[in-house]
Amino acid sequence: MAHILEVRNLRAGYGEFEVLRDINIHVDKGEIVAIVGPNGAGKTTLLRTIMGYTTVYSGSVLFKGIDITRRKVHERVAMGLMLVPEGRGLFPNLTVEENLLIGAYLEKNPKKISERLETVYSIFPRLRERRSQLAGSLSGGEAQMLAIGRGLMSSPDLLMIDEMSLGLAPKLVLSLFDMVVKLNREHGITLVIVEQHVKNSLEISNRGYVLENGRIVLEGDSRQLLGNEMLKKAYLIY
Ligand SMILES: Nc1ncnc2c1ncn2[C@@H]1O[C@H](COP(=O)(O)OP(=O)(O)OP(=O)(O)O)[C@@H](O)[C@H]1O
Ligand SMILES: [Mg+2]
Repeated sequence: MAHILEVRNLRAGYGEFEVLRDINIHVDKGEIVAIVGPNGAGKTTLLRTIMGYTTVYSGSVLFKGIDITRRKVHERVAMGLMLVPEGRGLFPNLTVEENLLIGAYLEKNPKKISERLETVYSIFPRLRERRSQLAGSLSGGEAQMLAIGRGLMSSPDLLMIDEMSLGLAPKLVLSLFDMVVKLNREHGITLVIVEQHVKNSLEISNRGYVLENGRIVLEGDSRQLLGNEMLKKAYLIY
């Protein structure tokens, strides 16, 4: 199957500061792919590079077979690529609905925008209930739903989610993972998830990559990775 996303021999970073080296990854349409690794490994930098926010020194990023390495962020969004950033990036002084509408900023057709809003509210009924509430007053779980909902408002084919479960209670983490599976199965969205919860993320994904010091050190089927002794020891999977 053709890859929806392909990263080839990528070196990237911030200004002079190189973070990623020799990165080769791919994502097939319909997959859930997990990216795991220790703090500072470069996971966020990899997602931000795919989205177009960093400096690429060499190598390329292909989306739907098109080289997007030099494309602007909004062009990538228009092509169906979206990132839900680490830390959520919400506007605390805007309402839930205003935050959602920002996610659809490239869409000018009001009918399409309201259809998307309806879809997001059907996925997250809690957001509908709180549509007029300020984003800054949401609970941690609700804020994460809003961040994902805003990502969905651009109608992405590939959604990347960075550390969605950071700081959330275990029960909430599980329901967010269920929601990711639902987005994949019922809404046909391809997903890349970066996670601290290594075991959970490998359990719901098809494949995984382990990033350390800016390089991919291990990759494979998630089920195989779950049984990998090195990974078990490093991330205390049991
Ligand atoms: N805006 C920036 N400017 C310069 N260096 C940065 C910037 N953002 C991150 N870095 C550096 O890049 C490296 C990789 O950081 P990154 O945030 O990608 O790691 P991470 O794997 O996402 O870590 P974490 O698990 O803590 O989120 C780190 O050394 C970090 O200090
Ligand atoms: Mg990070």
